[in-house]
Amino acid sequence: MNEKPKTSTVLLAAVVCVLPLLAACAAIKQDRPLLPVREYERMIVGRLDAEYVGTDNCVSKCHQHEKITDDFKHSVHGEQIKPETGLPLVNCESCHGPGSLAVENISDDVAQNDEKKVKCDTSKFLDIKNLPTPAQSLICLKCHSAASTPSLALWNASIHALNDVGCFDCHKLHKGPRQKVSREEMAEMCYGCHPEIRAENSLFSHHPLREKKMACVDCHEPHGSTQSHLLKGNTVKELCTRCHMDKQGPFAFEHGDVTDNCANCHTPHGSVNNNLLNAAMPFLCLQCHAGHVVGSDVIANGTPLFNNRCTDCHSQIHGSDVPTDTVKKGVFLK
Ligand code: HEC
Ligand code: HEC
Ligand code: HEC
Ligand code: HEC
Ligand code: HEC
Ligand code: HEC
Ligand code: HEC
Ligand code: HEC
Ligand code: HEC
Repeated sequence: MNEKPKTSTVLLAAVVCVLPLLAACAAIKQDRPLLPVREYERMIVGRLDAEYVGTDNCVSKCHQHEKITDDFKHSVHGEQIKPETGLPLVNCESCHGPGSLAVENISDDVAQNDEKKVKCDTSKFLDIKNLPTPAQSLICLKCHSAASTPSLALWNASIHALNDVGCFDCHKLHKGPRQKVSREEMAEMCYGCHPEIRAENSLFSHHPLREKKMACVDCHEPHGSTQSHLLKGNTVKELCTRCHMDKQGPFAFEHGDVTDNCANCHTPHGSVNNNLLNAAMPFLCLQCHAGHVVGSDVIANGTPLFNNRCTDCHSQIHGSDVPTDTVKKGVFLK
């Protein structure tokens, strides 16, 4: 009974949603075989004949990267100091590779460099934007091991990593000092690749994502999770009842085992039905129950009157501790 009702409808909807997405992904994704990790490690070493010169040397010769440098200094990365040495822990070169060759032909005369619009020779850095995605991510994972960033423990097995999505796709490090994804901009960022969720969230009944009172990461762990659909928590019920605690139970009178998965009746992002329901009443209930008449619900010519607004009477649909005095145990009426 824990299966989702109307599997065929759900499947059809999934196919309709996924097909255009797959088509879109095929366009941006190249077919690249996965290589052993050491191959990617080699790609991010940088030029072996170059030396590390440090951020100050890197940027003092020209002012071209002023905004980038300024933002960086005010970012969490720029503020990290090695306790033993008092030196910066994260340099431009931590991600871009050693820089001596890139700046070797630039004179120390900053004013003149500015006038001539001299630029460092970026071809001597790592070609950071064009590396294969796993190599790009490895640049970050050098420091962000599972030990230092626990949320990344499941990264390599995550549906994002396996589908050629990398750290830079979500973290735009030079857009400003913020290295995290802001809660305000998160939904827009995710919709870039998941446009169907925007459409769902624009429906009448919805979680307040578009009002920016919630963010995708309230329910999803984009770096990987043990649940399907990158969900947080161990079960759907555990996830939902972190916020909807009154539905947690256990109740003296449970609704069978259907509330173990809230998605049996609810859809998370948005629905045309009230209360984020998968289907309108009474069809939601009629997927699993037969309709019925109660007592003398008979209209004039003898036709039974079907009780279609099920929750008018069965209002404790999520389970209840209160038995009813009119009905046998287990039927949750108010
Ligand atoms: C934590 C990693 C990291 C650090 C540290 C870092 N960068 Fe970058 N940088 C990136 C990534 C990733 C890209 C390419 C993707 C992007 O633009 O978001 C990039 C791109 C760039 C670009 C190219 C931008 C463009 O649009 O072509 C420049 C220039 C640059 N970085 C300069 C710097 C300078 C200067 C510093 C030090 C003050 C620095 N970076 C420090 C990761 C880093
Ligand atoms: C040289 C080591 C190093 C590299 C390389 C590095 N980081 Fe970091 N990063 C750190 C440290 C140290 C912190 C601060 C402590 C922490 O939050 O773990 C940090 C913090 C962060 C944060 C949290 C910022 C905040 O506001 O709390 C994000 C996001 C981040 N890094 C993303 C990245 C991405 C994406 C890359 C790859 C492009 C990357 N880092 C590469 C060392 C590094
Ligand atoms: C699908 C988008 C996405 C990808 C891909 C992604 N991140 Fe994140 N990352 C996020 C979001 C969203 C947050 C949460 C921001 C927040 O909590 O404000 C986050 C948070 C973080 C943080 C802050 C600490 C934490 O655990 O919340 C770090 C560090 C980080 N990411 C590093 C990385 C690294 C390294 C990679 C690549 C291996 C990566 N991220 C890939 C979206 C992504
Ligand atoms: C209230 C919790 C919640 C929030 C907030 C939420 N999701 Fe989900 N999401 C879920 C659940 C639960 C599922 C699994 C649905 C299922 O089992 O049918 C899911 C599934 C998905 C899927 C898989 C495809 C699908 O429709 O089943 C994608 C993609 C997704 N969410 C993206 C997002 C994005 C992007 C955001 C932010 C704009 C977001 N979600 C916000 C709970 C949430
Ligand atoms: C660069 C594109 C990209 C970005 C940005 C992105 N995703 Fe994804 N996401 C994918 C791809 C590709 C998959 C693989 C499955 C697919 O095609 O839907 C995926 C899968 C997922 C799934 C699992 C879908 C399933 O059917 O189980 C969830 C949930 C999800 N992403 C949530 C998010 C959230 C939340 C964000 C923003 C924090 C985000 N994604 C940002 C590309 C992206
Ligand atoms: C991070 C907290 C949070 C999580 C997790 C969460 N919700 Fe919600 N939920 C909310 C908020 C906030 C509202 C809006 C309440 C309001 O508007 O008064 C809401 C509203 C709802 C509604 C009523 C919608 C309507 O149209 O009135 C339903 C049903 C619901 N959530 C079910 C779920 C289910 C099922 C899950 C698990 C997949 C879940 N929620 C996970 C915070 C959460
Ligand atoms: C058997 C179907 C069913 C299941 C399973 C179910 N719900 Fe509901 N839920 C409903 C119905 C029907 C309503 C509307 C109630 C009404 O019309 O009085 C509702 C309403 C809600 C509401 C909004 C109104 C309120 O009472 O706050 C929330 C929040 C909610 N459910 C959360 C959950 C959570 C969390 C779970 C999983 C633990 C869950 N539901 C499982 C059928 C279900
Ligand atoms: C996914 C299937 C499913 C859906 C949808 C569902 N139920 Fe149930 N319901 C069950 C199961 C399973 C039981 C427990 C089986 C039993 O005891 O006969 C149950 C038990 C009940 C009972 C108590 C029966 C008894 O004899 O104790 C009532 C009343 C009930 N459901 C009403 C509803 C209403 C009203 C709805 C719609 C809002 C609904 N159900 C939706 C599966 C479902
Ligand atoms: C007018 C109030 C009312 C409405 C509306 C109503 N019911 Fe009932 N329902 C009852 C009463 C009273 C009982 C107990 C009858 C009994 O035990 O003989 C009951 C019993 C049940 C039972 C348990 C039957 C059993 O054999 O133990 C289920 C399941 C059920 N209703 C489902 C539904 C569904 C589905 C709907 C909507 C299509 C619905 N009910 C609408 C009042 C109502």
